Amino acid sequence: MIDLTPDRDSLDPIEIASRDEIAALQQKRLAWTLDHAYRNSPFFRQQFDRNGVHPDDFKTLGDLAKFPFTVKQDLRDTYPFGMFATPREELVRIHGSSGTTGKPTVVGYTANDISNWADLVARSIRAAGGRKGDILHNAYGYGLFTGGLGAHYGAEKLGCTVVPISGGMTERQVTLIEDFRPDVITVTPSYMLSILDEYRRLGLDPRQSSLKVGIFGAEPWTNAMRAEIEEAFDMHAVDIYGLSEIMGPGVAQECVETKDGLHVWEDHFYPEIIDPVSEEVLPDGETGELVFTTLTKEGLPMVRYRTRDLTRILPGTARSMRRIEKITGRSDDMIILRGVNVFPTQVEEQILKCEGLTAHFQIELIREGRMDAMIIHAEATPARSSSEARDASAKELAHHVKSTIGVSSKVQIHEPHGVARSQGKAQRVVDNRPKE
Ligand code: DLL
Repeated sequence: MIDLTPDRDSLDPIEIASRDEIAALQQKRLAWTLDHAYRNSPFFRQQFDRNGVHPDDFKTLGDLAKFPFTVKQDLRDTYPFGMFATPREELVRIHGSSGTTGKPTVVGYTANDISNWADLVARSIRAAGGRKGDILHNAYGYGLFTGGLGAHYGAEKLGCTVVPISGGMTERQVTLIEDFRPDVITVTPSYMLSILDEYRRLGLDPRQSSLKVGIFGAEPWTNAMRAEIEEAFDMHAVDIYGLSEIMGPGVAQECVETKDGLHVWEDHFYPEIIDPVSEEVLPDGETGELVFTTLTKEGLPMVRYRTRDLTRILPGTARSMRRIEKITGRSDDMIILRGVNVFPTQVEEQILKCEGLTAHFQIELIREGRMDAMIIHAEATPARSSSEARDASAKELAHHVKSTIGVSSKVQIHEPHGVARSQGKAQRVVDNRPKE
């Protein structure tokens, strides 16, 4: 793979500023955010008043812990436009995240918010190894989801030629990659696997594709999956993180030269890690729930938003800004089986250890008597799809899962293409337990 490390001169000075400079900027911007939220959003004013805190109580960064958390339910309760801190007329864009209930949670952006977002995604693409003049194939979905338009505006701002293909129509994705010869692809890692299948189906060699780097996010994925994709396409695979409530893609980004976790763009977002049960702030290095406060957002400032994502904060490396470790999963996706916590990413790691299996999988939860049980649906590679080979793979996977994660599972190995393909965010867990 070629070296894509950006020139140090091309970085924003704040990316490599001293910790003191970063902390001073955060202090100033946090004070602004708390004041703006209190003065202009009835929701935040009520929250602060109820908890007996006032923006004037914020004097040092540690004082942030006095302020109340915000959760997804708050957005639902104020649906659709109740949380904004600017008049609706000043918002130039609305996005939303799809909820299971049918109604999305709505977020809004002023023109300044959109401009900052584009700057941060441009910064993220540069950190991933993208450059002005590159062709960027954007297969994140366009629409209410922030992935498509978020990546699009950032890529344009960096000076890339954007191919706004969105998700789906996988054969066409391959045709356009072959014809336009993009340098960069932005897509969920699970949909990249569908594109890989299509390459193979069409008899094309993915290692000969023009792609130099893939910027993968919007769902948890493992270093084992990184190795799989990098090997298949002979390209770099780096991680991008974000969430609509805070902005969208580009809240944190992994650097191509280190691939050691994601630098939080700390000039715009202030991260904390809390114990999800006691809600105490944990020191850097300890694993817990990631919480963000926005530092520059006008339309929808967020104070201590509980993401439900689990990770830990690590010191800066390629940039001075602190990193978050690759996300293990969301507390919502955690499966508890006979007292053992299981994340889909742990199962993914074990599947990728088995030579006879592809990287596509789904976990089904069922009830057996009074006990919950987990069925892992995985898929044989064409070379190992005989029924004997599938039996052997099933035994191997069940053994790995038992010995590393510590739970018993049922494993079903399907024939090639027997597991549903992702077009965007993969649905890893299907809950078929009877409703109580
Ligand atoms: O998924 C924004 C995004 C688009 C990020 C494209 C990266 C690329 P939401 O739909 O609001 O926004 O979902 C946010 O997705 O809280 C995480 O649980 C998960 N997520 C996002 N990026 C990652 C990642 C977009 N790199 C939710 N690793 C977040 C693990 C991720 N999980």
